[in-house]
Amino acid sequence: VAADSYRARIAILGCGAVGGAFAEGIARGWKRARRRGEVWLWSRHASRARKLGHALACPTVRARVLGAPEEALGASEAVLLCLPDAVIVPMAERLARSLPRGRRVQAPVLHTNGLLGAEALVALRRKGVAVGKLHPLWAANRGSSFLGEVSFGIEGDPGAERAARAILRWVGGRAAALQEGTGPEYHAAASLLSGGLVALYELADRLFRRAVPGRDARRRALDMLAKTALSNVWVYGTKAALTGAISRGAEDTVRGHLRALRRTPDALEAYRVLGRTMLELARARGSVDASSARRLARLLGVRARRR
Ligand SMILES: NC(=O)c1ccc[n+]([C@@H]2O[C@H](COP(=O)([O-])OP(=O)(O)OC[C@H]3O[C@@H](n4cnc5c(N)ncnc54)[C@H](OP(=O)(O)O)[C@@H]3O)[C@@H](O)[C@H]2O)c1
Repeated sequence: VAADSYRARIAILGCGAVGGAFAEGIARGWKRARRRGEVWLWSRHASRARKLGHALACPTVRARVLGAPEEALGASEAVLLCLPDAVIVPMAERLARSLPRGRRVQAPVLHTNGLLGAEALVALRRKGVAVGKLHPLWAANRGSSFLGEVSFGIEGDPGAERAARAILRWVGGRAAALQEGTGPEYHAAASLLSGGLVALYELADRLFRRAVPGRDARRRALDMLAKTALSNVWVYGTKAALTGAISRGAEDTVRGHLRALRRTPDALEAYRVLGRTMLELARARGSVDASSARRLARLLGVRARRR
């Protein structure tokens, strides 16, 4: 393949979990479509970029390790900032400073952070670069790939949105267009779900330990419980999926749970806080009557909270 035939160039700054998954997904998509392209990689540790590059290379996809992040501005399709939260704004400012007045940058620049909006890249926008956000709603671990059904929150200038959607075609993800200015609550919700599920599992595992001391047996039991609860949500929705004492209005059982949790204050607090949302769902579907709901709400600390 002649050197100049690698027309498509996407640059990725940061070769951690998210940068690695984008690089792998784009290379896989290009390879499948027999598209020739280059993935440009930059990491403060060049060895990390080189290692990732080696893993991508195939007859149609080349990897190039950049010596400095500013070189990314020569990309043709997009520059992805897959960097820690606190580094995104300074990096955008650094890239903007490197642009001489009047230099046209072809590629939109997108960051992958959940909280920040496109305006985090305002320094580049002021220099005429299209900017945006392409945030995977995905629990990333270094070395893992995007799965086919992952959604990505996208927002930004029209050129940046087009680039984001094109990348999603290569990596096989789905676009979720975000309303402007909603980053903090969108990201808080995503973190509550992904981190909260893990934390709940951990709490349940600790509480189960006395009853089921064997680790494998405990894991098998908890895995299936978690799986069936989540698959009920997917199939029936939250209201119909809810099970357990609160959903049935079983007050004595709830009292028993609260007594048992007195020795584990974090679990007690989680039970009370989540129990209030369970009670709302139970009321909405009519499985708990008004007077029972009032008593349950008191047990869960609703009145005490409002005083
Ligand atoms: N992990 C997730 O589940 C997830 C999901 C969605 C979105 N995100 C977002 O995606 C972004 C990247 O997250 P990640 O999970 O890929 O993080 P990560 O695995 O820690 O990777 C971050 C990369 O940035 C580089 N880096 C660290 N400090 C830097 C600095 N001061 N200047 C320049 N480069 C620096 C690191 O490599 P070197 O040390 O070699 O430079 C590393 O390759 C974050 O904004 C995160 O919020 C993460």
